[in-house]
Amino acid sequence: MHEMVTDQAADLDLARMDLLAKMDWERERTAPPEGFPKFPPIPGARYVDPAFLALEDAEMWRKSWLYAGHVDQLPTPGSWFLNRNTGSPVIVTRTLSGEIKAFYNTCQHRGGPLVKEDAGEARGFVCGYHGWSYTLDGKLTAVRDRRDFPEFDMACHSLIAVRCELLGSMIFLNGDPEAQPLIEHIGPMAGQLEELQLETLRLVDSRSYETDCNVKVLLDAFLEVYHLKSIHEKTVDRFLDHRAMIVTLWPHGHSRMATPNRREGWIDPGTVGMPEIPTVSAFTANNNVSYHIFPNFVMPPAPTGIPILQFWPMGPNRTRVVSSWLAPEHDPANPHPLWEMRIKNWERILYEDLQFAPQIQESLEGPGFRGVSLNYQERRIYHWHEELDRRIGDNKVPAELRVTPVLAPFVEHA
Ligand code: FES
Ligand SMILES: [Fe+2]
Repeated sequence: MHEMVTDQAADLDLARMDLLAKMDWERERTAPPEGFPKFPPIPGARYVDPAFLALEDAEMWRKSWLYAGHVDQLPTPGSWFLNRNTGSPVIVTRTLSGEIKAFYNTCQHRGGPLVKEDAGEARGFVCGYHGWSYTLDGKLTAVRDRRDFPEFDMACHSLIAVRCELLGSMIFLNGDPEAQPLIEHIGPMAGQLEELQLETLRLVDSRSYETDCNVKVLLDAFLEVYHLKSIHEKTVDRFLDHRAMIVTLWPHGHSRMATPNRREGWIDPGTVGMPEIPTVSAFTANNNVSYHIFPNFVMPPAPTGIPILQFWPMGPNRTRVVSSWLAPEHDPANPHPLWEMRIKNWERILYEDLQFAPQIQESLEGPGFRGVSLNYQERRIYHWHEELDRRIGDNKVPAELRVTPVLAPFVEHA
């Protein structure tokens, strides 16, 4: 009994420490914190089993808040782009009143496509099959040979809307009409992000990469810094101290890690002189902070620019990574000269992260793999998998594929 009380007191002290003190504590510790659970192995079949991946698709991908694009991609009323990241293509558009809305690219007559390109400008959407016409906000306004549809109710044939909400200047979609509003859903993270003034940031660049692995193989790599010393030996590991990394686990599978620079006051020389977001805190400016919005959005902000990454399943063992940069005071017609090199350096790091993915996938598919063994530093990955089971609903995950939930006491609700 006495021992338990002491453990709780130690935990409370840790919760009260400020973030820098926590980093010192993490750097110096000789074991995980007293009482921290040991993770049972994550069954490898969760990365390859077709029935499990189908559950993941139906219950998670189709019901999660997923980044679709940036408001700069919709500069004027009538601008639109087509999003096809998770199966059903969705038109994201700016209406005449300037609002951003999203609809399935599915005509309500017989399913013809409203748009066939990736992006464009329109005054409304006309179906390519029999010419039904819709406004930018999805209302059906014209039906060819209307006389042949007696007692037809136009109002009942609007395009089917997709939930669409903004996080600053970033557009997120959710295929679940009942989804909790995005800002409420990310909970305590929303307050932490205010210092970034996301609504003011411009889109600098966006490009994508594909590789042969299940999407979770790559996602895992961006939830920990345990791998820095091996695969980023000549890049990130030179300036980040992974042993002092701290983690915040938030509800709904979201999380953050913060890794200090090896040398206090270090500034990336490739960013000196670039415009800065004026409200970024010293903590964010002087450490590598990385946010994760469940399931597939990763964002490590710096005052001079924010890379954002999304990981998309292109099939059971094919993944696309989309990497974009947002920045303050960016003029697309006259970009800061340092961007070219900065994006190139970032790309080099991404290739380092991608290098083993196909071989890891081979391992996961082979008889030589018994389960993912995670350590304390890798706890965000376990948090992710616990959330996936919650989304699917525990009773639907076959017993041999479940992860045992152990992290609830370590999730911060405020
Ligand atoms: S399918 Fe669109 S008008 Fe017929
Ligand atoms: Fe990495």
